[in-house]
Amino acid sequence: MENILILGSTGSIGQNVIEVIKKGSKYNIIGIAFNKNITKAIEQIEKLKPKYVYVGQLEYISQLKNLFPYIEFFSQNELSELIAKNDIDFVINAFVGSAGILPSYYAIYYKKKFALANKESLVVAGKILTELAKKNKIEIVPIDSEHSAIYQCLEGKRQYLKKIILTASGGPFRLTDKERFESITKEMALNHPKWNMGAKITIDSATMMNKGFEIIEAGWLFDVDSKQIEVVVHKECIVHSAVELIDGSIIAQMATPDMKLPIAYALYKPDRIEFENKISLIDIGTLTFEKPDLDKFELLALAQDAFRKKDKNCGLLLNAADEVCVEYFLQNKIKFTDISKIIKKIMEDFEDKMPENIFDLQNQTQLIKKETEKVIESLRRS
Ligand SMILES: NC(=O)c1ccc[n+]([C@@H]2O[C@H](COP(=O)([O-])OP(=O)(O)OC[C@H]3O[C@@H](n4cnc5c(N)ncnc54)[C@H](OP(=O)(O)O)[C@@H]3O)[C@@H](O)[C@H]2O)c1
Repeated sequence: MENILILGSTGSIGQNVIEVIKKGSKYNIIGIAFNKNITKAIEQIEKLKPKYVYVGQLEYISQLKNLFPYIEFFSQNELSELIAKNDIDFVINAFVGSAGILPSYYAIYYKKKFALANKESLVVAGKILTELAKKNKIEIVPIDSEHSAIYQCLEGKRQYLKKIILTASGGPFRLTDKERFESITKEMALNHPKWNMGAKITIDSATMMNKGFEIIEAGWLFDVDSKQIEVVVHKECIVHSAVELIDGSIIAQMATPDMKLPIAYALYKPDRIEFENKISLIDIGTLTFEKPDLDKFELLALAQDAFRKKDKNCGLLLNAADEVCVEYFLQNKIKFTDISKIIKKIMEDFEDKMPENIFDLQNQTQLIKKETEKVIESLRRS
């Protein structure tokens, strides 16, 4: 049995990870980590009986210590200490946003087996993390469904890769005219047609920023340049991505849209575990593929541009600004259309050099978040 630490256990991916682990007997959940969902965390602690628990919000620790005196608790500054524990074999990073960047670094630094859902890690720190992973001989196994699909399609064929075909659902506004974007509400944006996910990634799917992040993520994971990644809108969400090989063959991975599948692959590969949710190609009938509308989804175009400038820290800018904008949009403090306006402004104002190390990069993320708040304030005043 391997001892696994689940970062983000209370979230959408984290809960799916726990369900998948319960299907087999390969893993013992030795640790969980969450931010503030204390009710869910208590429920998980009672069920899973972990040895270690990380709590993002300090104020909950004393309450939890009283309830579970036999558990070793960790707070924000002790993440490195937790991940370094000798009895942790495997780390799953399903934190959301920039909170996930440092844990990815520690997991690779301490040479743990590592599966990554937190796409922001590679968007912001792709260069640092992939270089460290290479040096420490650690494989970053993707959980994101598209990247898992690419990973699966490339098994044994890595040297023949010509191009990655990254599929996108197109989100809830694929058919909405750009003129109507002004009136998009939080409720409309949170209503994804195919995937049931956490709030941040659901809004990112509505703006297609998520697909932009995935381009950058794929670039670092599979060591390809921007010309080797094509985004294709595939509204049925059956083909989770594909690869084109040098002989012109296209190999795709198809399955029902369910995050448990890529999670299971990351945990049990090369083995497969049984799931009930099968697809029938006859029932589906037609699969469609279209070009994305870059005029309508400006953030996708912006991310493509950011990835072309890999040597600058544009991924960091995109991510930090987006994180703040999504939070404000979810609080009804800015409009849907403001998100791209604000991110664009940050990108124009702060194009800079890639920081030298992970801690500088963390500080820079905080700085850009503050700058984004200032842009939002001035927009709200005008
Ligand atoms: N959901 C999907 O289907 C999906 C698919 C592909 C990729 N991903 C990626 O996977 C990651 C997780 O997504 P999700 O949808 O599972 O998000 P989510 O439902 O919002 O869950 C996020 C998890 O991270 C924890 N967290 C948030 N901020 C934290 C902080 N500052 N410190 C410590 N923990 C913190 C949350 O704790 P609390 O619950 O206590 O707030 C929760 O456990 C994201 O990077 C996302 O892009 C998700």
